[in-house]
Amino acid sequence: MSAEFLVACDVGYQYPTRRGIQSLPVLSRLNLGLVEGEFFCLLGPSGCGKTTVLNLMAGFLQPTAGVLTLAGRPIERPGADRTVVFQGDDSLFTWLRTIDNVAFGLRMRGVPKHKRHAVAREYLHLVHLDGQESKYPGELSGGMKQRVQIARVLATRRPADGSRMSSWRSGARPAKPSCSLPMTLPKPCCSQTASAS
Ligand SMILES: Nc1ncnc2c1ncn2[C@@H]1O[C@H](COP(=O)(O)OP(=O)(O)O)[C@@H](O)[C@H]1O
Ligand SMILES: [Mg+2]
Repeated sequence: MSAEFLVACDVGYQYPTRRGIQSLPVLSRLNLGLVEGEFFCLLGPSGCGKTTVLNLMAGFLQPTAGVLTLAGRPIERPGADRTVVFQGDDSLFTWLRTIDNVAFGLRMRGVPKHKRHAVAREYLHLVHLDGQESKYPGELSGGMKQRVQIARVLATRRPADGSRMSSWRSGARPAKPSCSLPMTLPKPCCSQTASAS
């Protein structure tokens, strides 16, 4: 059985107080454990804390209680080992062409231009954006921008030499279904199953 990779242990979160207005805890005692490569959906009504959970996993926020770990290490900040596709379509770099948006993570890791562009073209093909490489985000539709984000996340996962990921590509499957995971979100607006919106 595969070891748990992303683990939340009694995680709680409360946004900081602003202008003297005390905020209520958004999350309390969130517990979950995901194995590497697992597909996990967090479902719940608007405002129940899904995006907050994603922001904690991304390292954009720090838990105010409990601990969140990735491969046994506490998540303390954003890192190249985690990628996020945002809800909106405004997170692309407006000054970069589509191909350079997709290749950005590889560029940050020092992958030469011809290699990162080859990887970016591969993922642009995957999301049906062949021929859009030279356009800027302002020249794309909302749906196209979402697909560029997805291509960017997938391209960023590739090793620095541009070779394929081993476990991801070899069809590694989770050892157990995600619905069996213990999951606690604040009542009354929480669900035991999962998906982010
Ligand atoms: N930056 C913030 N400051 C204060 N409260 C916030 C902030 N972001 C979200 N919240 C509050 O936290 C709760 C959960 O928000 P969120 O995680 O975005 O919900 P969801 O993604 O499930 O719709 C909501 O009550 C929301 O008003
Ligand atoms: Mg949300």
